[in-house]
Amino acid sequence: MYALSLVQLYVVYALIQIQGLDGEVDVWPHPQSATSSANYLQIDSTKFVFTEKTVEKCDLLTHAINRTKQLAFIENCAKAGVRGYKPFHNYVRNLKLDHNFKGVLSGIEVEVKTCEQIPHLEMNENYTLVIDSKTGTAHIKSDAIWGAIRGLETFSQLISNVGHHQFVVNETNIIDFPRFGYRGMLVDTSRHYLPLHVLYENLDAMAYNKLNVFHWHIVDEQSFPYVSKKFPDLSLKGAYNPETHVYTPEDVKNVIEYARQRGIRVLVEFDTPGHTLSWGKGQKDILTECYTNGTKNGKYGPLDPSKDNVYTFLEQLFAEVSTTFPDQYFHLGGDEVDFSCWESNPNIKKFMNEKGIKTYSKLEDYYMQKVLDIVKKLDKSYIIWEEVFNNGVALKPDTVVHVWIGSWGTDKEKYWRPELHNVTVKGYRAILSSCWYLDLISYGSDWKGYYTCEPHSFNGTEEQNKLVIGGEAALWSEYINAANLISRTWPRASATAERLWSPKSFNSTEKAAKRFHRQNCLMIERGLRVQPNEGPGYCQCDYAL
Ligand SMILES: *[C@@H]1O[C@H](CO)[C@@H](O)[C@H](O)[C@H]1NC(C)=O
Ligand SMILES: *[C@@H]1O[C@H](CO)[C@@H](O)[C@H](O)[C@H]1NC(C)=O
Ligand SMILES: *[C@@H]1O[C@H](CO)[C@@H](O)[C@H](O)[C@H]1NC(C)=O
Ligand SMILES: *[C@@H]1O[C@H](CO)[C@@H](O)[C@H](O)[C@H]1NC(C)=O
Ligand SMILES: *[C@@H]1O[C@H](CO)[C@@H](O)[C@H](O)[C@H]1NC(C)=O
Ligand SMILES: *[C@@H]1O[C@H](CO)[C@@H](O)[C@H](O)[C@H]1NC(C)=O
Ligand SMILES: *[C@@H]1O[C@H](CO)[C@@H](O)[C@H](O)[C@H]1NC(C)=O
Repeated sequence: MYALSLVQLYVVYALIQIQGLDGEVDVWPHPQSATSSANYLQIDSTKFVFTEKTVEKCDLLTHAINRTKQLAFIENCAKAGVRGYKPFHNYVRNLKLDHNFKGVLSGIEVEVKTCEQIPHLEMNENYTLVIDSKTGTAHIKSDAIWGAIRGLETFSQLISNVGHHQFVVNETNIIDFPRFGYRGMLVDTSRHYLPLHVLYENLDAMAYNKLNVFHWHIVDEQSFPYVSKKFPDLSLKGAYNPETHVYTPEDVKNVIEYARQRGIRVLVEFDTPGHTLSWGKGQKDILTECYTNGTKNGKYGPLDPSKDNVYTFLEQLFAEVSTTFPDQYFHLGGDEVDFSCWESNPNIKKFMNEKGIKTYSKLEDYYMQKVLDIVKKLDKSYIIWEEVFNNGVALKPDTVVHVWIGSWGTDKEKYWRPELHNVTVKGYRAILSSCWYLDLISYGSDWKGYYTCEPHSFNGTEEQNKLVIGGEAALWSEYINAANLISRTWPRASATAERLWSPKSFNSTEKAAKRFHRQNCLMIERGLRVQPNEGPGYCQCDYAL
């Protein structure tokens, strides 16, 4: 045993010596398995050819290649800002003087077996990427289009500019796939309205970090920017401004398409029965009227679970939403329901007596059950905030439970670890957000805390671990608008992205720091106004921001 392992060790060591492999490539999030050497090839960006190898025409691949051409061959800071016209290098380097130089790479072949149209929870993002210095060829291979999209992102990150239209790429061999299939980011467009161009920029950043779910928390107490065809009054009366602070059906379609091209799902959330004040402005008689000492006090609470018209309204609204958003999943919310208004309302008391409902959490169950049934009839699946699970509501077996409580505490783990245990021991799938409430800001390099949050660090079996399908960074927008969404979120969410994509063993912030910095700078070069998150330092395009 002992001798054998020594021999094995020696073989690995010898391989490393021969090929100069260190298992680290400058890619974020880090691939599952990567080897590279000091051998490199030269690329002339004006002549480089991407070849699509597909059985059928695959428009998503054409889009991805078009983007890669823009992203791989950046040679000045022009994208970062108006003053950024200075080239990184304005001369052509003589690479032939260098013994690691192995010639020219004239193109890359991208092979995709199946071209699906809509990204989904079970999508296959696996790919391999080989850059071979002996044959001077490169290829990406993937079973599904989603892998090719991720592989092209990786390829673009491997390329460096060394001269005018002159780039280099090292000999590289990558086998890659995500550790978790669900890698999301929540953006809240109710507390503050976020214009489309910012949502697009955020989707770009998500693609650069291989996140794959845009959780669109589209409406809430404060505003209702979603323009419903069936119920136009909801946004006419519930949006901050019904002309400017809204998402029309056309806008929503464009966002879904922009995300689809990047292999990103759009998971929409219509959170009920709490968080619905803005809904009541455009739709009469759905909110609970609150009472003080037996008389109406003019205030409103959550949706009124005792009223039939609430359910017929939701049936019609959700029928529309389920055709607008193609994803199989729908986020139904169900968090933070405040019972005090229900408690004060005599009609609700009467209703509970009639139905034999004894507690307010049972009343919430009654409501949630009806809503879940509505969505089930629409052939959709749902994600719910963990309170719905905690209250013991009967859930469909394919339900995903979204764990968030504890996000405000200093000892978050004390809460979310047992909760992940509770959810998975019952056989439900879970996603984790408790560690990644990025709207909660503090001084310093907070990315390290996000980076080291390990979703499998709860006391569960291997089977239970498999049920934790990923996680999600959350950007609640009480203090976020178009001016700071991108800068506040990135590169902090990059830490979450690597935790959810890369191997579990990538858990050292010291080792990750250099690549993290590089990813930060890369996003600036690509035109995103992201903040520094590691203390003093610089990026080459800072001057152009
Ligand atoms: C890439 O090649 C260069 C030049 O030979 C070398 O210095 C560098 O270490 C290589 N990088 C990786 C990640 O292999
Ligand atoms: C890709 O870019 C080419 C040239 O700019 C353009 O003709 C083509 O329509 C683009 N394709 C897609 C799918 O965007
Ligand atoms: C992706 O690759 C991993 C590792 O080889 C494998 O476990 C997984 O099943 C693959 N996923 C798909 C959808 O083929
Ligand atoms: C409600 O009744 C309580 C007890 O009778 C009284 O102390 C309180 O002032 C009343 N509140 C209002 C707002 O009338
Ligand atoms: C997990 O379940 C146990 C047993 O039902 C319960 O005591 C505990 O409060 C639950 N933990 C959380 C975080 O909900
Ligand atoms: C972990 O789970 C096992 C089996 O459910 C239990 O026996 C054990 O006490 C738990 N350990 C801790 C530290 O909670
Ligand atoms: C990091 O991963 C290694 C195994 O690869 C493990 O031994 C170590 O405890 C982990 N460190 C942390 C802080 O989780």
